[in-house]
Amino acid sequence: MKKVRDHYFKKAKKQGFPARSVYKLKEAQEKYGFLKPGQRVMDLGAFPGSWSKYTSRVTGSKGLVVAVDIQQLDIIADNICILQKNVYDLNFSSLKEISPYFDVVLSDMAPKTTGRKDVDHFRSIALAERALVLAEDLLKPGGTLFCKVFQGEDFPLFRGKCGKSFKSVRMIKPKSSRSESVETFLLCTLKK
Ligand SMILES: C[S@@+](CC[C@H](N)C(=O)[O-])C[C@H]1O[C@@H](n2cnc3c(N)ncnc32)[C@H](O)[C@@H]1O
Repeated sequence: MKKVRDHYFKKAKKQGFPARSVYKLKEAQEKYGFLKPGQRVMDLGAFPGSWSKYTSRVTGSKGLVVAVDIQQLDIIADNICILQKNVYDLNFSSLKEISPYFDVVLSDMAPKTTGRKDVDHFRSIALAERALVLAEDLLKPGGTLFCKVFQGEDFPLFRGKCGKSFKSVRMIKPKSSRSESVETFLLCTLKK
């Protein structure tokens, strides 16, 4: 397990990304290609900035990445707009002033883990539900939500909720996500 962590950690540093988590998004993107040049992307739980940095490279100078986290982010790129906010305090009308619509919502949000699987699971579900509400409101029809969730009792219920708003919901466990980790990702495409 340590070997895997070291490999991705070193690779991330070498490629200029602050965290190994970038490879979870990169793997999904390389397989499903949901990020495209010129898109407007909301990245929830963006600190320390790997996903935003990677996404901004894909979306390019004509695209926009809005990076949201409670923690202070200091990624510098022309096409990244940083919001230091709790997702529960995000105001829909101010978000719409930044961009009237988004093509993709990403969420790698994770609660501070307590070591109690059930507590961590329910907190992760709450964050994922918040990401879903934001995606339902901000995404244009046909848009995509790529969202991390800790698996557990309420996972099927959450997946079902995603299915009400998106035509396709796919579960993804990237190779770079540790096999013993309960985290998984939902790729929800074709927002209704
Ligand atoms: C796994 S890290 C994200 C890593 C990031 N995707 C990257 O590649 O650099 C999870 C992040 O979720 C953020 N987070 C957790 N709860 C949040 C909330 N309520 N509002 C905003 N961000 C939150 C944490 O501060 C943390 O930085």
